[in-house]
Amino acid sequence: MEDRIQIIKRVNELRKLLHGYSHSYYILNHSQVPDAEYDRLFSELEELEAKYPELITIDSPTQRVGSKPSVSFRQWHHAVAMLSLDNAFSVTDVLAFDSRIKERLSLEQTTKIVYLCEPKIDGVAVSLIYEDGVLTRAATRGDGIVGEDITQNIKTIPSVPLVLRSNSVPTFLEVRGEVYFPLESFHRLNFESQRRGKKLFANPRNAAAGTIRQLDSRITASRPLDMFCYAIGEIRGHRALPKTQSDVLHKLTTWGFRVNGDVEVIFGIENCIAYYNFMATKRDFLSYELDGIVYKVNSLEQQTKLSSSSHAPRWSIAHKFQAREEITQIAAIDFQVGRTGILTPVARLNPVFVGGVTVSNASLHNMDEVWRKDLRVGDTVIVRRAGDVIPEVVAPIKDRRLENSSALAMPSCCPICGSKITKNADEVAIRCTNVLFCKAQLKESLRHFASRSAMNIKGLGDELIDKLVDLDRVKNFYDIYQLVPEDLLVLEGYGEKSAGNIMASIARSKHTTFPRFIYALGIHEVGEITAQNLANHFRTLDAFMVASREDLEKVANVGVKIATKIEDFLKKSGNCELIGKLMEIGINWPKLEDFSEKKLWGKSVVITGTLETMAREVAKEKLIYLGAKVSENVSRSTDLLIAGVNPGSKLAKARNLEIKVLNEEEFLGILKED
Ligand code: IVH
Repeated sequence: MEDRIQIIKRVNELRKLLHGYSHSYYILNHSQVPDAEYDRLFSELEELEAKYPELITIDSPTQRVGSKPSVSFRQWHHAVAMLSLDNAFSVTDVLAFDSRIKERLSLEQTTKIVYLCEPKIDGVAVSLIYEDGVLTRAATRGDGIVGEDITQNIKTIPSVPLVLRSNSVPTFLEVRGEVYFPLESFHRLNFESQRRGKKLFANPRNAAAGTIRQLDSRITASRPLDMFCYAIGEIRGHRALPKTQSDVLHKLTTWGFRVNGDVEVIFGIENCIAYYNFMATKRDFLSYELDGIVYKVNSLEQQTKLSSSSHAPRWSIAHKFQAREEITQIAAIDFQVGRTGILTPVARLNPVFVGGVTVSNASLHNMDEVWRKDLRVGDTVIVRRAGDVIPEVVAPIKDRRLENSSALAMPSCCPICGSKITKNADEVAIRCTNVLFCKAQLKESLRHFASRSAMNIKGLGDELIDKLVDLDRVKNFYDIYQLVPEDLLVLEGYGEKSAGNIMASIARSKHTTFPRFIYALGIHEVGEITAQNLANHFRTLDAFMVASREDLEKVANVGVKIATKIEDFLKKSGNCELIGKLMEIGINWPKLEDFSEKKLWGKSVVITGTLETMAREVAKEKLIYLGAKVSENVSRSTDLLIAGVNPGSKLAKARNLEIKVLNEEEFLGILKED
């Protein structure tokens, strides 16, 4: 009895949650929880209802096709219901689907069914109606029976034909497809909204839903929605009716609709799974969000035999990809102190599997971001990880917030050294003021100094640096060169051999290059390229150390901001003293040749795309050897662009500005001449 009460309670709880989530999803264009969580709760409810059918009520979310239409738009009754799809989350689910199909069609289990595999676009389902070849109506899916009339908004999408192409058009045609928000535009839209302090969209689908349901079509028109079409709802007054789903797509194409280019007719379910695996990789490189693959029995005759349930066709299934969004809890928020003293809040998460990896930490970037998203310790949050992108905490789920939670407070002092915190008015970052003695900052500076692109001290890794700093054996760069083997031998895990190797690489690092040395100093904002440009310009350490801000501004890519940072650094007597001591212990580099006779002397060069014969770093060094200044971005002052494979927007910009462009072969030609 107790059990039964628990089950009824859970069923009611699930219904309440699902109703709430689908209301905010469909009506408010705002996802409260990731799809994966919604799907899990939905499956749990379905399973309970399957086990206890007497508990099914007509208002259960499982009994409804979709969502209620909003009252802001005119309603539109779909003549043929717009169904949903059943989901498959595993290969087992997919094989069971294929097996059911054969059973229903009375076919041997060894038969191979022909499927059409289509990318499942993560957008908003829409129905378009053409009368005598003219677009007369467009509607959202709504609850599958009644949707919203969004005709004006649909007409703003350039790829939606207003009039059908071809002479042979049906008298009445209803086409279905997915309206979506291209990824790059989505990121741009959110970037702009953030800059203006406006609300952000949690994902491209919400952005598409919010845009297609704008009451002001001018706003819709200003955003780059697009649409892929994938079905015919109803067709009248046409002789040549399609016989397969692939025919349907072909017809749609000839009438002028945009059909996804990755669709494929596939023989047998095993090959469908291979296609799924292929697309799961390709997904990261597409310009739109995919959330799975839809398998559709290709023959329309077989589709008719299989028919549909009240909410989904039996001839199709959506094989979902691994979720890119999941939920977990923020166990703590710590602050990490970087090389330049910036304190970065980091969320310590209860580990969660998302986008193919287990995520337990996520940077929250800065306090403004934490407050804007209103993230608190103990919050249940949506975590997102797409492709190789670093994991992001998207938003808290506010109705699961702990009662006693409070907004994150600005730290009162540096968590590592206890010093005061400052914040410059023009920065979002907060910093530890103890520039010289904060151990966290020192550790980061030493890591940078010893790194491969800087002094390249092999063996002086994170762990050793931590130990040497904690023991106060190393307090600055100079101390590295004062180390003796005994300093390492006393540490756990170091023997004669490893200590000897590290001592040797410290000694080797004294022979370096001028640009590497400048880079190793870790001056704010001075990356490798700027260090190269500074070395080329000033040629000697003495000239560099006395440079004024005006002198510095003459260097390629150095503006007021970077010049000021360098000047500040050089002005600090502690820094000059340290550099002096480093020179005394014998850090040296070959004198730079007289570059003014070099072929590319003074020329500003940009590299774009992938070079096939050499790494970009090597190309950069070669250019600098020829006297060029290498920059990241194309501007009016660029003299030359070297374009490899997949050059992207820099090439277009260079062409616009009529800048000379060399391909890789021509670039190699120049190198050979030298
Ligand atoms: S077929 C009766 N094909 O997925 C068949 N749907 O989860 C109904 N979707 O409401 C849809 N790409 O919004 C189909 N290639 C595709 C799709 C697709 C995305 C969406 C559509 C549908 C939802 C079902």
